[in-house]
Amino acid sequence: MNDLLTPPAADGSVDLLRIVIAPSAILKTKCRAVGAGDDDAVRALIPRMFATMYKAPGIGLAAPQVGENLRLIVVDVGPEDKRQPYALINPEVVAASDETSTREEGCLSLPNQFADITRPSVVKVRYVDQAGARREVDADGLLATCLQHEIDHLNGILFVDHLSMLKRNMIMRRLVKEQREKRDGGR
Ligand code: NI
Repeated sequence: MNDLLTPPAADGSVDLLRIVIAPSAILKTKCRAVGAGDDDAVRALIPRMFATMYKAPGIGLAAPQVGENLRLIVVDVGPEDKRQPYALINPEVVAASDETSTREEGCLSLPNQFADITRPSVVKVRYVDQAGARREVDADGLLATCLQHEIDHLNGILFVDHLSMLKRNMIMRRLVKEQREKRDGGR
């Protein structure tokens, strides 16, 4: 991918967005495609999503995680001193390898929860970049996992939805309990 973006300034000049924590209806929603009328909204949203993701910190963020019903994701799997920011509009996985990889995944909408998830090792993702150009990326490694995780969000799918109901319920109960304790100030 060569549509490298300039990461937003870390001086607080970009307003951060509030990250939606599961369970929440927006996280279960199949998001609508970004259309021509969404240009201004998307342009405003992208730097704020990057800033919110870096601050968290995380390596990917999908629009529904900040309450926006739009097919838009931002990802950056690069190290802190060598950012690799990508914004993908209307991304879709158009090819996936038979070979799979298992990685431990987490999610900014499920703080402190992690699980091993198995997904195709290599994927081809088609998307539109910020300039409106149609692009394709062949991703492997962490980027492949991250792109699939974020595109899942646009279809209302969380990483725990790839687990057995037993494991998923265990994680969701723990999340709700931890969030309640946090809200109650640890009482
Ligand atoms: Ni996530």
